[in-house]
Amino acid sequence: MTVATTNVATGDRLRATPTGRALAAEIEQVDLRDVDDARFRDLHAAWLEHLVLLVRGQALSDTDLIAFSRRFGDLDEAPIQESGQRFVDGMPELYIVSNVVENGEPIGSLGNGEAVWHTDMSYVAEPPKASILSALEVPETGGDTSFINMYAVYAALPDPLKQRIAQLRVKHDGTYNSGGFLRQGVRPTDDPRTSPGTLHPLAYTHPETGRIALYLGRRRNAYIDGLPLDESEALLDELWSYVDGDRFGWTHAWRRGDVVLWDNRCTMHRRDAFDPGARRILHRTQIKGESRPA
Ligand code: SIN
Repeated sequence: MTVATTNVATGDRLRATPTGRALAAEIEQVDLRDVDDARFRDLHAAWLEHLVLLVRGQALSDTDLIAFSRRFGDLDEAPIQESGQRFVDGMPELYIVSNVVENGEPIGSLGNGEAVWHTDMSYVAEPPKASILSALEVPETGGDTSFINMYAVYAALPDPLKQRIAQLRVKHDGTYNSGGFLRQGVRPTDDPRTSPGTLHPLAYTHPETGRIALYLGRRRNAYIDGLPLDESEALLDELWSYVDGDRFGWTHAWRRGDVVLWDNRCTMHRRDAFDPGARRILHRTQIKGESRPA
């Protein structure tokens, strides 16, 4: 079913077709290089409603991608890539997700392996509220990206579990990225109690929708503040058992020119591995988030 939102200013309609899964919609007939204020308001409303938006057939330069991203707010600087390099000279907001190696140097991060379920940069105090990926080159098969609706995961928890986590905070680890690579300037550790990271409430009230999402970040080195390690591990395993991509998720098979934008506060995502001989290049921006309750 396509849901059309009439733009009062222009009479034009934003066409959002839900995937039929627990989240995500495809937006049709939009050129992201040319989005007026009224169209942007509709896109923003559709993004809050569907959590993930897919817009196909785009031809965004890096400048276009940054300009469109800025409609949502100020941008974060991209994290340093695994090799210690920044990505694109003069564009500190751009992060490159790629397995391509040029002149012996990787041009981006995350290689060709699986990236596990995660929320972007949740190891910082104010994680980005949104991320936008623009596909420049993609393999014929593999490298699909899945998203999961963390409002739905929270809603599926039994009431006693919701009550148990209501006041608890979880440490979001800053040691490893979702590809399992060590972050720059960090000592390797697998002790969740002492690893670097930031505590966030497990039950997170979304500041724009008022809905509650389970805020897990990633599993490796997660630690529930104040609990003995074995209790923390058991509770985290129980919570993660509800992270069921078949029930609450949607998987995207990329085409060149796809732009996918997601709400980083109420979703997680993961990526399938792909053939190391294939080229995959996606450029990503992130929109700054708001400060979170202590
Ligand atoms: C990411 O985690 O931001 C990258 C996802 C992907 O490579 O599809």
